[in-house]
Amino acid sequence: MRPNTMKALEKSKPNEGLWVVQAPVPEIGPDEVLIRINKTGICGTDIHIWNWDDWAAATVPVPMITGHEFAGEIVELGRNVTGLEIGQRCSGEGHLIGTDSRQSRAGKFHLDPGTQGIGVNEQGAFAEYLKLPAFNVVPLPDDIPDEIGAILDPLGNAVHTALSFDLLGEDVLITGAGPIGIMAAAVARHAGARNVVITDINADRLKLAHHVVPTVRTVDVTAEDLQDVITELDLKEGFDVGLEMSGSQAALDQMIEALVMGGKIALLGIPPGKSPVDWSRIVFKAITIKGVYGREMFETWYKMIAMLQNGLDVSRVITHRYSVDEFAQGFAAMKSGLSGKVVLNWT
Ligand SMILES: NC(=O)c1ccc[n+]([C@@H]2O[C@H](COP(=O)([O-])OP(=O)(O)OC[C@H]3O[C@@H](n4cnc5c(N)ncnc54)[C@H](O)[C@@H]3O)[C@@H](O)[C@H]2O)c1
Ligand SMILES: [Zn+2]
Repeated sequence: MRPNTMKALEKSKPNEGLWVVQAPVPEIGPDEVLIRINKTGICGTDIHIWNWDDWAAATVPVPMITGHEFAGEIVELGRNVTGLEIGQRCSGEGHLIGTDSRQSRAGKFHLDPGTQGIGVNEQGAFAEYLKLPAFNVVPLPDDIPDEIGAILDPLGNAVHTALSFDLLGEDVLITGAGPIGIMAAAVARHAGARNVVITDINADRLKLAHHVVPTVRTVDVTAEDLQDVITELDLKEGFDVGLEMSGSQAALDQMIEALVMGGKIALLGIPPGKSPVDWSRIVFKAITIKGVYGREMFETWYKMIAMLQNGLDVSRVITHRYSVDEFAQGFAAMKSGLSGKVVLNWT
């Protein structure tokens, strides 16, 4: 029996925090499915919404059920939905796209300029039930557990960024050992990079990076000079590819210095505001820079599931698991800067 109400974590008022509420179970349209949520991941975006910083206050209407990283099971199908079944385990793309833009009509759905996000602009996944367009559903194979399903969204950020440039045989520098940087290190290794170096200013994060990807060379840039690491690894001219995953201007500057002539940078990290960039250095080094947003629909999802089935292991990036009733502890763990991914259990 379909209940009328459900437990949800909601931004109920424009203050710090989230609140547990009983919300109506969403009614689905003809092209949508209803998903019973089993596990959700807490994202940095959810922390912005919890804190109610300037970005959140300007972006998120209240009330809003937050959350966009999830795994669950389809429990209802809209009347036009084909190719999916009740009981299908799934995750899904939380970016809701339009179909009218030039980019969408060209099949580049992830570049649709009108993209809306579940848990940000539309009711999200921190709830017992989630309404989602069937188009956005990504079925989970039996060998991918729900807790990995719940972190496919950020793993997808890592995969999208890491696969922006050919990594086979290349020396790769990742700045920022947050959960996404660490997962990118695992992906770069899996994709055949020769050396993978990851920097941070937080020793605990670097310890976690080493725990998740034992073959990665970690660098605490407060204690060690990247140029010494380049010498130690015998890189001669520097790194071939940089993946910026900190949002820090200092990290980007270091990356530009540490790259070879003609090097490539994929930028995922979001700086807090405008920041000065030494453009002449980028020009004279003939560096290519690519901005990365979200995940490619659905090529990133295809690749990451294929890599997970082919031995990519990011499971140790999940450091904390809580039941949804302990959500405050989950958010505290995220805010401590000591955690990797934090997963909430809804069943
Ligand atoms: N473009 C997108 O679609 C997208 C999607 C998700 C996240 N993001 C961004 O990607 C970044 C990574 O996400 P996350 O969840 O792993 O973030 P996070 O905040 O957990 O990790 C960032 C890490 O960078 C480290 N750092 C700070 N200054 C540094 C410096 N000077 N050198 C090296 N490291 C430094 C921090 O200590 C932290 O460990 C964030 O900036 C986030 O906002 C972008
Ligand atoms: Zn996220």
